[in-house]
Amino acid sequence: MIEKINNYLEEAKEFVATSLDEIETFRIQFMGKKGIINDLFSEFKNVPRENKKDVGQKLNELKVSIQEKINSLKENLGDKSEDNSDIDMSLPGDPLKQGTRHPISIVRNEIIDIFKRLGFTISEGPEIEDDWHVFSALNFPEEHPARDMQDTFFIEKNPDILLRTHTSSVQVRIMENTHPPIRTISPGRVFRNEAISARAHCIFHQVEGLYIDENVSFADLKQTLLYFAKEMFGEKTEIRLRPSYFPFTEPSAEMDVACNICGGKGCNVCKYTGWLEILGCGMVDPNVLDSCGIDSKKYTGFAFGMGIERITMLKYGIKDLRLYFENDVRFLDQFKSVL
Ligand code: PHE
Repeated sequence: MIEKINNYLEEAKEFVATSLDEIETFRIQFMGKKGIINDLFSEFKNVPRENKKDVGQKLNELKVSIQEKINSLKENLGDKSEDNSDIDMSLPGDPLKQGTRHPISIVRNEIIDIFKRLGFTISEGPEIEDDWHVFSALNFPEEHPARDMQDTFFIEKNPDILLRTHTSSVQVRIMENTHPPIRTISPGRVFRNEAISARAHCIFHQVEGLYIDENVSFADLKQTLLYFAKEMFGEKTEIRLRPSYFPFTEPSAEMDVACNICGGKGCNVCKYTGWLEILGCGMVDPNVLDSCGIDSKKYTGFAFGMGIERITMLKYGIKDLRLYFENDVRFLDQFKSVL
């Protein structure tokens, strides 16, 4: 029997495995319920008493060395990282969640597309501006409330530097550097020192437009904005223009679209008027053209500016604009289908 055990010891010593499956087969062969070692222990009962000590020692030696062999086989296999034989390549991978565009980006891109079709170019400028481009060139009187600390974020050490309150500043830069005809829109982020509520935020996004050429009229402005409203909100969309005031346009107007949240009946979003103001507009004041080096006797132009947040609210029935900044995926995920 000792010789038999020696043979098994020899066999085990020479055994090599290339996968966990092979090691497992080896383990069952020796250590399984009906394996070699259990068989040998059964046989051991019949060994004559005088040999029991030697055979018993040998048997234990076999048991221990088989266990050690299994451990070392497993360790070796783990070290060989290039051996993938125990990896199931058919298992599904970890899902990678697809991101979505922010609703503000979706609507900004839509606005840009509509005006591109009318031949408008896109212009951009700095968010940190100087007084000239945000106010002075745009005919703001010295005492205008928009220049007040309450509306504008100024840089403390130099009140000439401020965060732009509208992207009209980009249009000043364009007028200073371009000969008419000019037809451009300026999308971008703007800043106003306002209390945050469902309808107002201190950071929001605008698209402002400017069209300057010979003989540009208020009728051109109205038709351009009507086209925009119909493209944006549907063919049946109604608009209305109300007289207004801006330092940089004369005459000035504000444009409303019928509130599609309440269908014109009145709700807290449209302040129970049935209409939602979406933009300001007007004919560029000759003083502005002159400040920017454009001959106001030869050229006229119109300008308009809209808040993207407000338009997105109207388009998707969003009631609180704070949702745009919270980045709650339950809100953002709803815009998957409009990617
Ligand atoms: N700049 C104005 C605003 O931010 C919008 C506007 C632009 C109004 C052009 C008239 C003409 O509110």
